[in-house]
Amino acid sequence: MPHSAAFASDGRVTVFAPRIESLLRERLGTGLFRLDTDTIGVSDSGLIDALLGARPASKFERPIFKPLLGHTITRPESSAVMRAVSRDVNQAFLKFTGGDVDLTGKWPHVAHNYLRDLVFGSDPYRLRVMVDRRLEITPKLTWSAMTAGSVLPARRRPEKGSTNLGAMLYEAGTYRERRHAMGLYRRAAAAVCFTVSALATGAMWLGAPFDSEVSNRHIIHETLRLLPISWNLLRMASPEFHALDNRIGASDDVLVLPLLTHRDPNLWDAPHDFRPDRWNSIDPDNHPGYLPFGHVNERCWGRHMVIPLAERLLGIARRNRLTVDPAQRSAYVPLRGLLSVNDVRVVQAQ
Ligand code: HEM
Repeated sequence: MPHSAAFASDGRVTVFAPRIESLLRERLGTGLFRLDTDTIGVSDSGLIDALLGARPASKFERPIFKPLLGHTITRPESSAVMRAVSRDVNQAFLKFTGGDVDLTGKWPHVAHNYLRDLVFGSDPYRLRVMVDRRLEITPKLTWSAMTAGSVLPARRRPEKGSTNLGAMLYEAGTYRERRHAMGLYRRAAAAVCFTVSALATGAMWLGAPFDSEVSNRHIIHETLRLLPISWNLLRMASPEFHALDNRIGASDDVLVLPLLTHRDPNLWDAPHDFRPDRWNSIDPDNHPGYLPFGHVNERCWGRHMVIPLAERLLGIARRNRLTVDPAQRSAYVPLRGLLSVNDVRVVQAQ
């Protein structure tokens, strides 16, 4: 039976999947430890800095632009996708009035669907379905949706325009090109909806209702500390790692664990407490052991759009006096690639 490993401000209990919970219980501040026969876990912030700085991430280690259907995604192609989705997010900002939106219900589902409709709502169904949360149940569903959606050529681009990301499908001539375009769409659009909704849900769970003095930006930094969406970064075995620390064998993969450095008692006061105001005096881009967006050499390319999107979502929730259902005392964080709190019931405050 998993037990709680973190407490939210209002006494709500976060229940982590047993493997995450045992890392938090047994490995905080332990530096380096063997996870299995060929994987070393690392939670020492100095060593992490050296390991991640030792070489660039390989194409298989890149979360968004790893090879797709066996094809390497080139730098110019990744940049073009990022430019397209950034423009789409910027256009969505113009529509973000925060007025009559009803965001009550189960998060992250409600937040996810809201973002999907807001940013990608003008795209045809075959594209929007690529962002459906149900596709997460099994990768097979994603592949089927991609294949089905690629069979027919895309008609002429709609007059009122699809998104810039969706436009890539209209430029694809062959079945293979369409499948590739749909795969890229899935990677980028799903990243926006899944990560931002997970971040906003974590924030609501940990801190709502928020003190009116606290900024959304600080709430987000503190949420990413306690519930880092990218809670582990995998680096495959390479000679540089053994050279840096001979406890890492030549064939050991390395799992860097922001989950642990973010709660290391040597680096943080009251490490398990949700205290957004600690960010009044900490620089999030330059604090030892804080790496929600990766290493300084190759930080997340999406961070400049996800933070403002999450801020807007929290802004709407705060303006509309939304909070977590007082009857909900616990929530579960499953073992997945992206750390996210499940099924948080968001209601109007009484
Ligand atoms: C809360 C949201 C997000 C978090 C916490 C996050 C975190 C990270 C982290 C930790 C890395 C470094 C990974 C490593 O070194 O192994 C990374 C890289 C990257 N992220 Fe994000 N990310 C987020 C959202 C996004 C979104 C929405 C996009 C794009 C739509 C994106 C695009 C990228 C790209 C392009 C890279 C460089 C590696 C690659 O090419 O795949 N991220 N992100």
